[in-house]
Amino acid sequence: MTEPAFSPAAERNKHPIFDMLRQLLPMQGRALEIASGTGQHAAWFAAQMPQWTWLPSDAQVDLFPSITAHATAAHLRNVQPPRLLDVLSDRWLPDDASGQAPLFDLIYCANMLHIAPWACCAALMRGAARHLAPGGQLATYGPYLEDGVPTSEGNLAFDQSLRAQDPAWGIRRREDVEREAQHAGLRLAARHAMPANNLLLVWTRAS
Ligand SMILES: C[S@@+](CC[C@H](N)C(=O)[O-])C[C@H]1O[C@@H](n2cnc3c(N)ncnc32)[C@H](O)[C@@H]1O
Repeated sequence: MTEPAFSPAAERNKHPIFDMLRQLLPMQGRALEIASGTGQHAAWFAAQMPQWTWLPSDAQVDLFPSITAHATAAHLRNVQPPRLLDVLSDRWLPDDASGQAPLFDLIYCANMLHIAPWACCAALMRGAARHLAPGGQLATYGPYLEDGVPTSEGNLAFDQSLRAQDPAWGIRRREDVEREAQHAGLRLAARHAMPANNLLLVWTRAS
């Protein structure tokens, strides 16, 4: 079996994220994870929520062995094989036999918006609007800048290091993300402060 990749940050934040998600989610449902990375979140959340099916995805196919290895090591049957999904693509997933886009009760995306070009934000919102089931929720997790909220020294330094690595990257303003959500027909339903100056934002259909 492939040795799974390990992210210390994902290991640290999977507990507080899940503690918040469990309060927001029904007992069962179908989740699509965007930007699964190593697959640690997929394996942890699916293990805690056995009545949920979890579809991990990422734009980088070389992460798939790690995603699968984490799920296999935890003996999980409710994690589906990872899908190649770039949020910028026109069609995230093929329609089902009746011509419908597959729908999910949760679309979960952690730590992607700041490590991807800004166009990925609008693309994430458009895709989520297409694939959210009625009553479904999009949850985005990560650092954000917010008007009227002092930015921590840590997030300022992180933002600078991101921009130095790639000028297209950087911590996003929550208000800018909200504007892209509105264009896609979504609204910010909840803002949860998380450890280490991160936020868990919950987005639902505007109407
Ligand atoms: C910092 S990692 C976060 C991984 C994981 N969600 C976590 O929180 O540990 C960022 C991930 O975003 C993915 N990513 C970047 N651009 C993307 C895109 N356009 N579509 C989908 N995933 C993307 C990368 O491949 C990478 O796995």
